[in-house]
Amino acid sequence: MTDHPIVSLRGVTKTYGGIDALADADFDLLQGEIHALVGENGAGKSTLCKLIAGVVTPSAGTISVDGAAVVFATPKDASRRGISMVYQETSLVPQLTVAQNIVLGRERTFNSVRRVRNAARQVLQGLNFKVDPSQLAGSLSAAKRQMVEIARAVLNEARVIIFDEPTAALTPEETDHLFDLMRSLKRKGVSMIFISHALEEALRHSDRITVLRNGRVMTSGPASSFDRSLLIQHMIGDELKEAGRPARAARPALSALPILQVENVRMGNMVNNMSFSVFPGEITGIAGLIGSGRSEVAKVIMGHTKRNFGGGRIWLDGREVRYRLPAQAVADGIAYVSEDRKLDGFFETMSAADNIGLGWLAKFGRRRLRTPLQTMRRLASEWERRLSIRATNLNQPVLSLSGGNQQKVVIAKSLVQNPRLVIFDEPTRGVDVGAIAEIRSIIRGFAESGAGVILISSYLPEILELSDRILVAKSGTIAAEFSRAEASAAKILHAAIH
Ligand SMILES: Nc1ncnc2c1ncn2[C@@H]1O[C@H](COP(=O)(O)OP(=O)(O)OP(=O)(O)O)[C@@H](O)[C@H]1O
Ligand SMILES: [Mg+2]
Repeated sequence: MTDHPIVSLRGVTKTYGGIDALADADFDLLQGEIHALVGENGAGKSTLCKLIAGVVTPSAGTISVDGAAVVFATPKDASRRGISMVYQETSLVPQLTVAQNIVLGRERTFNSVRRVRNAARQVLQGLNFKVDPSQLAGSLSAAKRQMVEIARAVLNEARVIIFDEPTAALTPEETDHLFDLMRSLKRKGVSMIFISHALEEALRHSDRITVLRNGRVMTSGPASSFDRSLLIQHMIGDELKEAGRPARAARPALSALPILQVENVRMGNMVNNMSFSVFPGEITGIAGLIGSGRSEVAKVIMGHTKRNFGGGRIWLDGREVRYRLPAQAVADGIAYVSEDRKLDGFFETMSAADNIGLGWLAKFGRRRLRTPLQTMRRLASEWERRLSIRATNLNQPVLSLSGGNQQKVVIAKSLVQNPRLVIFDEPTRGVDVGAIAEIRSIIRGFAESGAGVILISSYLPEILELSDRILVAKSGTIAAEFSRAEASAAKILHAAIH
């Protein structure tokens, strides 16, 4: 690492509809450093990165590379100067294979199917990512899509790689591996920026940290000069202190009868004789590694995957059900908060309010002759307030909200349906510390009101904090079950791996 900045921003502002997503920002990325960006949802982290990567152009100020001012009109211009970005919302082309996506834009260098596949295989293996190069990108899990994006940047031999929340969709082992990889890139002189809501990651794995708040750079300095509470202080000012995590005793279930029973459900090779029950008034956590069949069983319950259904039975309130379409599950009072907001979470060109309103309409609007616009608007603004969804303006398409705010829209859209059973799949991924506390208390409130809750999470502290009962999925079955009292991180990990 040297003190020579490879990229610098001076007085850079990016304005959307009169509001500053980034205001008068000074920022330096030094040669060969790993630089972490932290801040609340909507603080301007992704915007800062997109400016450097040529995805958006500054409204004012100067960006320099190697000391000379540059103007990037497109990401291609940045990539010609050796700057690559791994996006928060994946940018892969779903209809292309993994290999084709990895070489995208460089087809001339890899001009045969075999070369493309070999190059892709080599870079994936080098990264130790277990992704099949011939698979279609659209069929990959969130974690694997992220891996493909990282592989693409590495193949581009970038001098600057920007990672927007790279670890949000990775397991702990995959995360360790990514940081090992970043350290080895650093030894080759590559400079990296990564955004993370996990402050420990920033503290442990970066050389320097920059904190953003409300579009402003609050501070920037060596990682060793910060600790967790100092970072939080810069992130949120004196607004609020991080919510405490009081220990909570398990509640007795409200009813001995399960709200949902799943018996010997099978789907493709992902779900393999899965059986479990969910009780009303209780949070049933499902832990497990990515690929253990957790999200897939949720999709079977919702009627999302008809084709590979391999048998098994499902009861809702003692009545056997088998949904062919998610709309049928929604009508029966089941809501699914997807881990994958971009693919099945929302209508991206509509505003947050319209998305929330449509969520309500999907459940309650069926028998109505006229669209009750007023009710939809009232509920939308109520939920925007409850989840503090922050948009620069009300009609902003949801895709242009910050990542964490998009996640809140997905949650609101489901909860406005007033469901009796909610399946939360990685509900706090990509969400900042303040909003995590809000979302967790909403999940808890749901169970307390007597609804059934399934919580799928890769983040063990979250499972441990919220769940009354913990199931551990492994290779498509439930490998273990723990009560709240007997559960521990060590036991869960052991059951998930061995
Ligand atoms: N295309 C756009 N149009 C309008 N507003 C936008 C657009 N892109 C971003 N914004 C706004 O700019 C602000 C900063 O967004 P940004 O995506 O940089 O936040 P972030 O720090 O990355 O947040 P998160 O942690 O949630 O990903 C937000 O208020 C967002 O709504
Ligand atoms: Mg972001």
